[in-house]
Amino acid sequence: MEIISDFLIIGSGISGLTLALKVAEAGSVSLVTKTDIEESATYYAQGGIAGVLGPDDSFASHITDTETAGAGLCHSSVVKTVIEEGPALINELRELGIGFSDRTCGGLDLGKEGGHSIRRVVHAGDFTGRVIEEVLVKAVTGHKNISIYTDHIAVNLIKDGTSGRHRPGVVRGAYVLDKIASTVHTFLAKNTVLATGGAGKVYLYTSNPDVATGDGIAMAARAGLTISNMEFVQFHPTCLYHPHAKNFLISEAVRGEGAILRLADGRPFMKKYHPMAELGPRDIVARAIDFELKKSGQECVYLDMTDKSAKFIKERFPNIYERCLSFGFDMTVEPIPVVPAAHYICGGIKTDMSGRTELKGLYAIGECACTGLHGANRLASNSLLEGLVFSRRAALDMSASINTAHAEPLPSVPPWRPGSAVRSDEAVVITQNWEEIRRFMWNYVGIVRSERRLERALRRITLLEKEIEEYYWDFTITSDLVELRNIATVAGLIIRSAIMRKESRGLHYNIDYPERDDKNFGRDTEIKL
Ligand code: SIN
Repeated sequence: MEIISDFLIIGSGISGLTLALKVAEAGSVSLVTKTDIEESATYYAQGGIAGVLGPDDSFASHITDTETAGAGLCHSSVVKTVIEEGPALINELRELGIGFSDRTCGGLDLGKEGGHSIRRVVHAGDFTGRVIEEVLVKAVTGHKNISIYTDHIAVNLIKDGTSGRHRPGVVRGAYVLDKIASTVHTFLAKNTVLATGGAGKVYLYTSNPDVATGDGIAMAARAGLTISNMEFVQFHPTCLYHPHAKNFLISEAVRGEGAILRLADGRPFMKKYHPMAELGPRDIVARAIDFELKKSGQECVYLDMTDKSAKFIKERFPNIYERCLSFGFDMTVEPIPVVPAAHYICGGIKTDMSGRTELKGLYAIGECACTGLHGANRLASNSLLEGLVFSRRAALDMSASINTAHAEPLPSVPPWRPGSAVRSDEAVVITQNWEEIRRFMWNYVGIVRSERRLERALRRITLLEKEIEEYYWDFTITSDLVELRNIATVAGLIIRSAIMRKESRGLHYNIDYPERDDKNFGRDTEIKL
């Protein structure tokens, strides 16, 4: 089947949905999403959106905090633009009906998170993302110009009428697998937008939902685009440690309200590592926990909020309180066991200030993009902000050119050709490769890296990339196979980028090069397949 629209948007988190609503005023939109429309990292965001809204705050202060966390690699013009344009867009969300938490004495209740010198995180209790996602989903669902395709996973971009690699050109849309019908459809559009989110599933332990398999980054890399800063993978310091607590995050806002990290014997340890202690930048807190765990041989550290009243905890963190309780931890009376987990990828598809990629007709926004905002380490709660600002900027750019630059009719594109692929009866190959990648990425390319570990990881991924590529062409594609191939591509990009950076900075810490080297590495890492 061939589906033609003005805008093809792949992904349904805050970036994809906000963009869809904005461009739907200018033309028809096909919104493609892998599972249910709500399933996205946005839905699970607890902390909130950072923005200069409080009376004591200033753009200069938010800019300084962002650039300090970013360890010398933030692009100043991008930081300034995002921070200055953010507050108006947060207010737009309020006008759409998103109810952020207020203080009892009036005004927004602003939370504090690591690396922020002041309270500036707008939140809705501790389920901010869910509240945002639900309102946006409701708005797109009823929109006459937006067609939604759930259970559809994009496979490859269509470039110049073909899906060939290494050829510059125009992106015309994407081949998309309908997971239910097991059929690949051709989606054609004047503008294609990757809003596919992150890639936490590359790692064994992650706070991300299962959909975070780096699909957009992998498709863009295969189309020959520049991918930047992939070595900067952010590990969130505090995920609940319990065998059945799959990926459950304990928001940094808990530390923002005064929770203390303790070792198993009850000793606090963060003051040794940073003057801001528990609220130091995330890379430092995650590395400190990793160091203490390796030294003590313990499996987790503990987050202690018991000096706050039960009433405060239940009101401010209802979601975290209930979830911990369901696993047998009452955070009002005992510390919660926590460990770090892969949380956010600061690198991604290189874009300009309007979300444009190097290929005409292709945009990337949200976590899959590398705009220059985060540098070597993202400041907490700056990502939903980035999604809002860049979806608006991309929407303005696309809407302005929809009737001029892309006035020519779309070329005819051959349908997906499965070739001689047959149905595989060996699903075990996919599970085996998937587990192998996630485990060696965790062990060799995790919070602390070394040259030997990175070389080991490179040898393994090179072998697996070849094996997966052969498997991909020999067997009929399934969603699992598409995701495995993407995970392998993204893992390869992270490993190769980490090997290129012979220094330690922000989220990339290599024990063989423990110092920051501005002279040789004070720049983005760029890689092309
Ligand atoms: C959190 O709530 O700790 C996550 C916030 C973020 O990653 O920006």
